[in-house]
Amino acid sequence: MLSAVERKIEQYIIELNDKEVLAYYAKLPHGKRLRAKLILKIAGNSLTIVKTAAVVEMIHTASLLHDDVIDDAYTRRNMPSLNALYGNKTAIMLGDILYSKGFFELNNISTDVAKLISNAVTQLSLGELNDVLLAKSFNTDKDKYLHMIYQKTASLIEASAGAAALLAGKPKEVYMVYGRNLGIAFQMIDDLLDITSDSATLGKPALHDFAEGKTTLPYIYLYEALDDEEKQMLRSLHGKVLNGEEQAWIQSRMQKHQIIQRSYHEAKILIDEAIVLMEQCGETALLGIAREMIDRDF
Ligand code: FPP
Ligand code: MG
Repeated sequence: MLSAVERKIEQYIIELNDKEVLAYYAKLPHGKRLRAKLILKIAGNSLTIVKTAAVVEMIHTASLLHDDVIDDAYTRRNMPSLNALYGNKTAIMLGDILYSKGFFELNNISTDVAKLISNAVTQLSLGELNDVLLAKSFNTDKDKYLHMIYQKTASLIEASAGAAALLAGKPKEVYMVYGRNLGIAFQMIDDLLDITSDSATLGKPALHDFAEGKTTLPYIYLYEALDDEEKQMLRSLHGKVLNGEEQAWIQSRMQKHQIIQRSYHEAKILIDEAIVLMEQCGETALLGIAREMIDRDF
C-alpha cells in the first residue's frame, strides 16, 4: 500500500497551493520509502498509519535535501540533486516546506507519535552536525562514529518503528530496538557502498565520503590494521579528492586486511539480532525488510 502513502504526500503538497513547490517536488526521486514500508508492515494501512508514513517520508526527504547542500552532492539516486538543478537556496527552502508541513500534519495524528518523531528529528539534526564536525579531522574513534550514525540515520527509523507500534497497540520498546538496529546497519552499508560500488551504480562519485573528510567504519578499521608508515599515508589522503592511483592504494589495503568483510559482518550482527527479536514477536513480515537492509547494492 505504498501507493497510498505516495498519494497522501502528493495531497499534502497540493494543499500548499503553490505551483513552484509542486514542480520542485516532481523533480525529486522517491527513494526506497523504507521508513514508510516499515510503518505499514508494523501497523497495517489505516488512514492514520498512511498519514504517519507520509509525514515521516516528507521529513526524511527534507533531511536529504538539506544533506545534499551540506555535502555538496550534485547527484542523488543517479539524478541531479535539487541543489544541482536550482541551487542551495531552493533546496533548503523546499526542505523547510516539507518538514514544516509534515509537522503540521503530525499534530493531527497523536501527541505521543508527534513527540517520538519530533525528538528523532532533533536527533538527526544533531547527528548531521556531528557528522560535519567529525569530518573536520581524521576520526579514528569507532564509538563516536556509531553514535553519530545512530543519531543521523537510525533515530528516525527507530522512531518510525516505535510510532507504528504505538498506533498498532504493540509494545513500543522492542520495535524501537529493531528499528535502531536496522538504521545503524543501513548506514553502515551505505558507508560500505561508497567504497565498493562504482559511481554509476551509486549515483555519486565513489570514495566520496573520504574526500569529504568522513572516516566511516571501513576507514577506522583500515587505520587500525595499517603499519605506522601506511597510517601516515592514509592520513595524508584524508579530505582530498583522490586520483586513480590513490584510490587504488586504498582499495588494495582494504582488500589485504579484509576490511569490507569485517564491516559487513558488523552490520550483519545487528540485522541478525533484529531478526531474532521479530521472530520472538511472531512478526515474520518484518524479517525480509531487515534482510533488505544489508543485501542491497545501492
Ligand atoms: C544522509 O547521510 C543524511 C541523513 C540521514 C540525515 C540528514 C539530516 C539533516 C540534514 C537534518 C535535517 C533537519 C530537518 C529539520 C529535516 P549521508 O550523507 O551519509 O548519506 P547519503 O549518502 O544518502 O548522502
Ligand atoms: Mg550525504
